[in-house]
Amino acid sequence: MTSRLITAALPYANGPLHFGHLAGVYIPADIFFRHSRLIEKDAVYICGSDEHGVAITLNAEKQKMPYQQYVDQWNKDHQDLFKSYNIEFSYFGRTTSKLHAQLAQDFFSKIHKAGYLVEKSEKQAYCLNDKTFLPDRYLTGVCTKCGYPEARSDECPNCGSWLSFDEIRDPKCSICGKGNIESREVKHWYFDLPKLAPQLREWLQKQTHWKSNVRNYALSLLESTPQRAVTRNVTWGIDLPPEFHADGKKIYVWFEAPVGYLSNLKEWAAQKGDADLWKKYWDPKSELIHFIGKDNIIFHTIIWPGMLLAAGERLPTNVPANMFVNLMKKQFSKSSGWYVDAREALQTYGVDRVRYYLTTIIPEVQDTNFDWQNFHDKVNAELVNKIANLFNRVGTQIKKHYDGILTPENFKTIKNLASAHSDVIALLEKYDINGALSRVVTLCEEANKYLDDVKPWSEVKVDKEKAKILFAVASNYMMSVAALLQPFVPAYADRLLTAFSIPQDEKLRATIYQSGAFEMLQGRGLKIQAESDFVIPRIDSKIIEEEIKKLGQLKG
Ligand code: MF3
Ligand code: ZN
Repeated sequence: MTSRLITAALPYANGPLHFGHLAGVYIPADIFFRHSRLIEKDAVYICGSDEHGVAITLNAEKQKMPYQQYVDQWNKDHQDLFKSYNIEFSYFGRTTSKLHAQLAQDFFSKIHKAGYLVEKSEKQAYCLNDKTFLPDRYLTGVCTKCGYPEARSDECPNCGSWLSFDEIRDPKCSICGKGNIESREVKHWYFDLPKLAPQLREWLQKQTHWKSNVRNYALSLLESTPQRAVTRNVTWGIDLPPEFHADGKKIYVWFEAPVGYLSNLKEWAAQKGDADLWKKYWDPKSELIHFIGKDNIIFHTIIWPGMLLAAGERLPTNVPANMFVNLMKKQFSKSSGWYVDAREALQTYGVDRVRYYLTTIIPEVQDTNFDWQNFHDKVNAELVNKIANLFNRVGTQIKKHYDGILTPENFKTIKNLASAHSDVIALLEKYDINGALSRVVTLCEEANKYLDDVKPWSEVKVDKEKAKILFAVASNYMMSVAALLQPFVPAYADRLLTAFSIPQDEKLRATIYQSGAFEMLQGRGLKIQAESDFVIPRIDSKIIEEEIKKLGQLKG
């Protein structure tokens, strides 16, 4: 069976991660990774901090902090946050590692050798105050294509155009805030994307299994792709390989960060004690799947594949990009208080309720909203009323009337629910995570409907033996639901399965994930342990009112 290398966009070590990052990239990739292991794919999940780039140096300077110390702090912060959300990477590395720098330089040299890097002089903005060139976010101004006021020196984040310096009106230096800027010739290395365009186009056209919006957008970008500068006059970044005599230039952050997928994979292998292990996952026969947000599409469908092609490396298998998550219809903005602290949310609501809701708003086809009222309604209606309640009402009865034990004979007439399992698996294999979770909820609804029809709690008063059969059917449903919840809400699913005396045995849990507990129940019956593990408390609407009031207010 083919192995599977799953990656999530390397987050900039530059400030807190919010629900948009979690629901847009890291949770979907984590669900897909857990699912992959449960179907017994040989999978690894690689990520790490992206620690270079102008956005980082500008913020570190504002806080008067050394760059390394600044990224150290955010690297740690992100790792802690991921852990608390049960996002479990195989490896989480950093682009300031030595191995990463070496590998990025190798790519640079190889791409140059293959004839895809050209050196040329172009005009660039230069701040006469600070006596420095102003690449990327060091310069902002009005985009002449769409009028967006915060275009950066070489691109507009609003209309997605690639800009040159003279296409920006009212340019300002981000260091001193002044417009004391002139245009100066400067030499850089440029990545020859136009030369790669035919090969990239041919490759993209074949990716018919991708989300069509991602593929179409990539193909449209290819229509007008300029040569892009891949070196910068900055002090924080990876040096060019020594043979380039680069006098102070560094490799552009986007020309090295994606190499982090490979360098972190190699670091993972080394840590495992098998330095060659990475090769199996980097093999063209292995799948390579990049989870990203829509702002990263250009880099993962054009520039990074272009680098891979030029360097003679394997290409990605899929780039299931997601759209954005807004907060009650507006963009998350920490500075204006339009923000929810992802850590505080966990303290108040616990990981299962938050992760559940975030999964329902993964922006798979369009931008979605984190909406407090919807959070309250959805968690209470689905996770509490449909899912937890099913376990509660049945579990407590089995405990009360049968000491928590049903024997193999009781399971003679249960249905094989394998089709629900194959549905969920097929949906996840198509990256339809919202759809897959909905399918689990539907299964719960079927179970609840069965209970409402046969009313075992009434039957038990009349014929205790006959009621056992009804409880057995319900338990079969519950077992399937618990098994299928594993990738989505891993902590809660583990509590449920443990309460059903299913040990933390990977093989066993994978089997019931794939096909349900039909055979197992008929073979060994059921024993329920602590039914308190079924409970998920309702969210109180009073707290939600408080949350909504807090929005837009700055913390003093
Ligand atoms: N740091 C980038 C962002 O947060 C993503 C980098 S992805 C990689 O938008 F491929 F470059 F690693
Ligand atoms: Zn300046």
